[in-house]
Amino acid sequence: MTNRSRIMGVGMSVPSRVVTNHDLAAKMETTHEWIVERTGIEERRWVSPGETGAGLAAKASREAIEKAGIAAEDLDLIIYATLSPDIYFPGTGVLLQRELGIGHKGVPCLDIRQQCTGFIYGLSIADAYIRSGNFKHILLVGAEIQSTGLDVSTRGRDITVIFGDGAGAAVIGVATDEAHMILSTHIHADGTEAEILWTETPASRNHPRLSAEDLEAGKHFPQMKGKNVFKHAVTRMPQAIMEGMQANGIKSIADIDMVIPHQANLRINQMVAQMIGLPPEKMHNNIQKYGNTTAATIPICMHEAIELGKIKPGDLVCLVAFGAGLTWGSAFLRF
Ligand SMILES: CC(C)(COP(=O)(O)OP(=O)(O)OC[C@H]1O[C@@H](n2cnc3c(N)ncnc32)[C@H](O)[C@@H]1OP(=O)(O)O)[C@@H](O)C(=O)NCCC(=O)NCCS
Repeated sequence: MTNRSRIMGVGMSVPSRVVTNHDLAAKMETTHEWIVERTGIEERRWVSPGETGAGLAAKASREAIEKAGIAAEDLDLIIYATLSPDIYFPGTGVLLQRELGIGHKGVPCLDIRQQCTGFIYGLSIADAYIRSGNFKHILLVGAEIQSTGLDVSTRGRDITVIFGDGAGAAVIGVATDEAHMILSTHIHADGTEAEILWTETPASRNHPRLSAEDLEAGKHFPQMKGKNVFKHAVTRMPQAIMEGMQANGIKSIADIDMVIPHQANLRINQMVAQMIGLPPEKMHNNIQKYGNTTAATIPICMHEAIELGKIKPGDLVCLVAFGAGLTWGSAFLRF
C-alpha cells in the first residue's frame, strides 16, 4: 500500500465563559426564542481577556497529540486554519508552535484561511503530504476567536448571535491498514460572491487600512447576507457529500455511519440531512452549545461524537463544510 493517511487523535478546547442568548438579549434587541428558532444556538463560549487563539489551540493540540500516542517533538508540520489570527502577522501557527515548546525543532508552520471550510482544506493538505511521503505526523488545527471582532449591539445582531470561540485539533499520521484511513477529500471555491460574508477592513488595499470613518460605519465587523449564505450552504453541502460518495463508490447513504457537518446553523444541517435522506441520528450537531466556531466546528464536533461513542474505530465518517469565500468541501474517512 502506498502511503495513506489517518486521523490518529482529536482534541478540543473552548473558553470557560458561557454566553447565553439571554446575556445577548440584555445587550441588543433579540430574544432567546428568535435565536433558537432560526439557528438552534442556545449558548456559546467567548474568551475572557488573556485567552488567545494560540492558547486554546495549544490545549486542543496537546489532547490530540496525547490521543495519537505521540509527543509534540514527533510533529513534522503544523497547519493552522483560522479567519481570526491572534495578530495581523506572523501567522498564529508559529505562536502555537512556541506554546507547544517545539520552536527549537524548526517544524514548518502553514497558516491557511478558507473560513468555515478551513479544516477540510487543511485535511486535504495533510492527506497529500502524508501520501507523498514527505511527513509522518501533521498537527491540523482549526481555531477562532470571533467574540473580540463582533458588533455586540442591535446593528450586528444577525451575525453576532451566531459566532463562538474555540479550537479543535487533529493529528494526521500514516495509515497502517485500510480500516482506519482518510479515503478522500474534495475542496472547492467560488469567489463570485465573496462579499456576501466578509469583513471589509482593515484592508491593505485601503489608505489607511482602517480609517475613523470605517470604524464609525462598523466596517471592521463581519457582514453577512444571511439568506444568500443559507441558500448556497444547502446546495453545496449535499453536492460535496454526493461527490465524495461517488469517488469512493459508496452506493447508499445507509453505508455512512456518521456525518459531521460544519456547525453554521442547525436549520441548514437539518435541511441537508433531509435532502440526502440521512436519518437524524447519523448526523452529530453541537452548535446548540458552542455556536459557529468557523474552522473549529468540525474537530470540536468530531471530538464530541468520539467521546459519546457516536464515532467508533472503523466507522465510515463524512465531514462536510461550507463557508465564506465561498468555499466548500467534504472528506470521507474510516476512523
Ligand atoms: C442569519 C439567519 C439566522 C437570519 O435568518 P433569516 O430568516 O434569514 O432572517 P433575516 O435576515 O431575513 O431577518 C429577518 C428579521 O429578523 C431580524 N433579525 C436579524 N437578526 C436578529 C436577531 N439576532 N434577533 C432578532 N431579530 C433579528 C432582521 O433584522 C429582520 O428584521 P426585519 O424583517 O424587520 O428586517 C439566517 O439567514 C442564516 O442562518 N443564514 C446562514 C448564516 C450562516 O450560516 N452563516 C455562516 C456560514 S458559514
